[in-house]
Amino acid sequence: MADTNYSGKTILITGGAQGIGFGMAQAFAAAGGNVVIADSDEEAGEQAVKSLKKLQLEVLFIPCDVSKEQEVEELMQRVEEKYGQLNALINNAGIADPFMGSLDALDMAEFDQVLSVNLRGPLLCAKYALPLLKKAKHPVILNISSTRAFMSEPNTFAYTASKGGLEALTHSLAVSLSKEGVRVNAIAPGWIETGGWQKEDAGQAPQHTKQDQEQHLVGRVGMPADIAEAALFLCSEKAGFITGQSLTIDGGMTVKMIYV
Ligand SMILES: NC(=O)c1ccc[n+]([C@@H]2O[C@H](COP(=O)([O-])OP(=O)(O)OC[C@H]3O[C@@H](n4cnc5c(N)ncnc54)[C@H](O)[C@@H]3O)[C@@H](O)[C@H]2O)c1
Repeated sequence: MADTNYSGKTILITGGAQGIGFGMAQAFAAAGGNVVIADSDEEAGEQAVKSLKKLQLEVLFIPCDVSKEQEVEELMQRVEEKYGQLNALINNAGIADPFMGSLDALDMAEFDQVLSVNLRGPLLCAKYALPLLKKAKHPVILNISSTRAFMSEPNTFAYTASKGGLEALTHSLAVSLSKEGVRVNAIAPGWIETGGWQKEDAGQAPQHTKQDQEQHLVGRVGMPADIAEAALFLCSEKAGFITGQSLTIDGGMTVKMIYV
């Protein structure tokens, strides 16, 4: 992991019970941070705490649905009671399946739900985290968007729009919170393999075809640790001159030109 020490710092990771969020929780806890996982899946949250404990890593789990204002407000109250301040808010929770029906069969309730979790959630978390971030030295917000903010497969309307919105929200927050000393950045992951990082398939080795691997310039699919390494850097003072930016981490998949 990057040579970055988080001892004495508090890092709140939404959606940290599984997948990329769990990978980041492990990395920040291993770097000495006080990690708080907020997740709507209580079973996964409790399992995440147990899995990390086996690695001698202590994290706090707080159940929270990031799309619900009252739950987000209560989450921040609990973080304040426990740690008094917040150094980093990582908005990672998301409805991660990008696919929905075709446009003629569009279910607007489904669209609203994805926007509510993936876009409204990060804004709500930023709003209620701000008083705690202002109490910390060099506070940061890191939003986990997606390369799907910039390119699409068919029938991914809600997910793609939510991540495009999150990219825009990143620079909007960066500009709005600069006077408060808060840096705000995004990571746009490409294909990150989360098998083995989920409650239902923990420990299973992911399988990828040669074609899966070769569509990445680096010759492999991404892992949560690839995102965690960048998050450790972006949330540290080593990245003190970086704000309002989005870092694509996709093994080069989205710069590869395809002629069929
Ligand atoms: N895995 C990828 O290939 C990939 C690629 C690009 C972007 N992303 C983004 O990275 C983030 C994490 O994705 P992942 O693949 O690890 O997904 P995941 O499904 O493995 O994990 C998401 C976590 O968020 C939680 N969550 C969902 N809705 C929530 C809510 N309303 N409130 C609180 N927690 C909630 C889930 O319970 C889960 O623990 C998401 O924002 C996703 O869009 C993932």
